[in-house]
Amino acid sequence: MTLTPQTADFALDDMPGQALHDLLHVFRERGPIAPARFLGLPCHIITGDAALGAAFQDDFTFPGHRMYQASFEPAIGASFISDPDAASHLRYRKLATPAFRSRAVSRFEQTDLAALAHELVDALGERDEFDLVTEFTARFPYLVITRLLGLPREREEEFHAWAFALLAFRDDPERAMDARRELSAFLAPVVEERRRAPREDVISELVHSEIDGRRLTDDEIFSHIRLLFPTGGETTHGALGNLLYALLAHEGEWKQIVSNPHRIEGAVLEGLRWETPIAVLPRLSRSEPVSFEGTPLDPDSWVLFAVAGANRDPALFKDPDRFDPDREQPANLVFGRGAKSCPGLHLARRNMAVALAVLAERLQDLELLDTEAAVPRRTVLRSPTALRVRRRS
Ligand code: HEM
Repeated sequence: MTLTPQTADFALDDMPGQALHDLLHVFRERGPIAPARFLGLPCHIITGDAALGAAFQDDFTFPGHRMYQASFEPAIGASFISDPDAASHLRYRKLATPAFRSRAVSRFEQTDLAALAHELVDALGERDEFDLVTEFTARFPYLVITRLLGLPREREEEFHAWAFALLAFRDDPERAMDARRELSAFLAPVVEERRRAPREDVISELVHSEIDGRRLTDDEIFSHIRLLFPTGGETTHGALGNLLYALLAHEGEWKQIVSNPHRIEGAVLEGLRWETPIAVLPRLSRSEPVSFEGTPLDPDSWVLFAVAGANRDPALFKDPDRFDPDREQPANLVFGRGAKSCPGLHLARRNMAVALAVLAERLQDLELLDTEAAVPRRTVLRSPTALRVRRRS
């Protein structure tokens, strides 16, 4: 079915590959904010880089916590992402997020991150054909989280099963609530133990983090850990899949990376720009009539922050639809902007660069088998369904 700007629904339609970007180009030409559809309802969409940068910083018109109160809080619990109060959001965020830039993390990045990627490639054994989504991109970010937290390795699978049950809250709320209880019961003694005897891991950092005499409570620590599944796990899973698709689907790009590892950093930045995993970020507008760029908005209406549109705005990027790891990268909106901008950006980029370096070193001659399944699809979390490949070396 052909997507038209009148009928396309940014929640219900798949919008694979270029189909999403063609639509976003049409919306961008309609002005800074334009009518669209989301979840079967009328909404507005913001697609240009300048307008979207301003929208991200306009917390009066688009209070950043509201969508997360509806989507995350039931499963994850109250955390700073859904905190309506700007001051306490900032305080909780300052207590919780530096743990991801701590010494424990940089040591992990230097010594253990590549080893983890090698572990997943080792597990492929002698197989010539496999799916890089199930074998790698869907596993790596979760293993990074478990190892950074310092959780026992023999319980990693259990931990990931709880994470996936929480992520599937909408399909099976009862299972998600069980997972939440089980996860808290599992974490409580670990947190207690780190309080008594800190180690070099993120839970120890969270337990001991202190500002003006205030520390995180156990419940805040549990919520923050649960928050990492959608914000750190699913995003990086999508970003890695989209990057691998870009490199494998474009003639010669994989070979270029294999023979020139110094191109990896540029490829990661371009992969995040060209097909970003949070392609469209839904926001709820204020609970009273407001307007943005002269367009009136009904109270509590959906406004879509089309990061994927801003990433291909010709005002900022020359030949924006082209995947070009050598291009200049002006500041973009992949990780948001303003008070809620992504505190995990450094870790996300590092994960991607190390994963790509190991894959390129170990799987030098790769052929993509099913391009259709590999095309990034969906909007709020965009990624390939599968990356089926054959290796020849
Ligand atoms: C490629 C991967 C990633 C992308 C594209 C991404 C993107 C974003 C974006 C666009 C936002 C802003 C959301 C908003 O304005 O409502 C955000 C916020 C956030 N991200 Fe990331 N992110 C990624 C990886 C990570 C990782 C690895 C972590 C954790 C270690 C993380 C933790 C968070 C948190 C906690 C917030 C909420 C911040 C707040 O409410 O103050 N993200 N991310």
